[in-house]
Amino acid sequence: MTAGPMQASARACANIALAKYWGKADVKRNVPAVPSISLTLDQLVTETRVRFDPSLGADVLRLDGRRATATEAERVAKLLDRVRRDARLRLSARVTSHNYFPTAAGLASSASGFAALAAAASAAAGLRFNPRRLSALARASSASAARSIYGGFVELPAGKRGDANLSARPIAPPEHWNVRLVVALTEPGQKKIGSTEGMERSRKTSPYYQAWLEQAPKWSRKIKRAIRERDLDALGAAMEQSTLAFHCCAITSDPPILYWAPATLAALATVRRLRERGVSTWATMDAGPHVKALCGADDASRVRRALDRTQGVTRTWIAKPGPSIEVHR
Ligand code: DP6
Repeated sequence: MTAGPMQASARACANIALAKYWGKADVKRNVPAVPSISLTLDQLVTETRVRFDPSLGADVLRLDGRRATATEAERVAKLLDRVRRDARLRLSARVTSHNYFPTAAGLASSASGFAALAAAASAAAGLRFNPRRLSALARASSASAARSIYGGFVELPAGKRGDANLSARPIAPPEHWNVRLVVALTEPGQKKIGSTEGMERSRKTSPYYQAWLEQAPKWSRKIKRAIRERDLDALGAAMEQSTLAFHCCAITSDPPILYWAPATLAALATVRRLRERGVSTWATMDAGPHVKALCGADDASRVRRALDRTQGVTRTWIAKPGPSIEVHR
């Protein structure tokens, strides 16, 4: 790829949390209150190009071929401002970003999006490649994005108020363990409440939030050990508990946040039935109705077929462990 001195592009993969992040220790700095562990996924990719351009009077942002909304532009400008401050740069930037997801509908792209933006903007501004700094930069915009800087299995520790430099770190590379994540898209039930808003509401109103803060590190530890030992049953069991516990916080918020649709429960039942028949597969859900089932490579087609046949599941595909961020100047 050819590029001038003030431009760069980056490619980042989305990730799925195996141990969930839900809740902030510092809202302003966007510091998570619980540790989380993720798997970076191939196929779910964002590519972002940033060009600092003296001819621009303001930042220009295009996402998937359209102009960004004011809210999106503001979130991006905050990240660009941090990069400009670090690089002592005053120029405005043109940002173009594309999501290459198997389908546009229903899966969060903020993790891959802010990871790619952090890397492309930093490289375009001439800052030296430093994954820890990129991870902290991405985390300040969206904490799950901190994890998408690295490939394979990644952890983001819990932080404290004022932790400006908190970053994720790799646990094991993608080739460590040949697992699969079968993604099952379902018909959404109700209007989506974004994770930022959802977790703030849980923190302020759920009577179970404190219990979640106390218990989450335990699942995180179990999941980390299970990854090291390649123990799918141990990982899966702890992942389901972490998922259901965070959803419990959401559901008991005021007003309640119920991310599930009827198809979510149907897909959960499918995963449980498969397990009863001897397939080691385990489910997780994020701030939406879709179900993702973790399993071994040999079982992925069977799990996918079963989810395809589940009432209300609209689309499925199989994701593998994905690589770390790639930057091109
Ligand atoms: C349920 O990273 O999107 O997917 O930091 O406010 O941008 P912000 O939240 P975000 O939250 C992700 C929440 C989750 C669980 C997870 O990915 O760990």
